Amino acid sequence: MPGIADPFVALVPRTMTKQELVQAVRIEIAGEVEAQLLYEAHAAATDDEVARKVFSDIADEEKEHMGELLALLQYLDSEEADHMAEGVGEVEGMMKELGIDPSVASDLMGSVIRNDEGTEKELDAGRNSKE
Ligand SMILES: [Fe+2]
Repeated sequence: MPGIADPFVALVPRTMTKQELVQAVRIEIAGEVEAQLLYEAHAAATDDEVARKVFSDIADEEKEHMGELLALLQYLDSEEADHMAEGVGEVEGMMKELGIDPSVASDLMGSVIRNDEGTEKELDAGRNSKE
């Protein structure tokens, strides 16, 4: 972690614009992915049962953080949310072509990526109140 010894590295001297906030969330998502990979690699690379369990647990927590950040990104950027929903739809289409029930993937993704009608309404209400 470069710069961690610098006490001013993470301080922002002003409130971020919405565009900067969206970019910050994207960077944070990348950080969660990197952290998850690191913990999983370390879990796989040790014979110590306790360390493996702790690393695996933390890796799962990073996945939860990623879900939170994806939901936040959807809230902040409706266009990005629409693209994510399109991507989910494309994968569901591919699964159907292969004879796989796409509801399995949809259930796993829940409302994080998928914009069901209720979620979309809630997100729209939140966006309207922020803009
Ligand atoms: Fe995290």
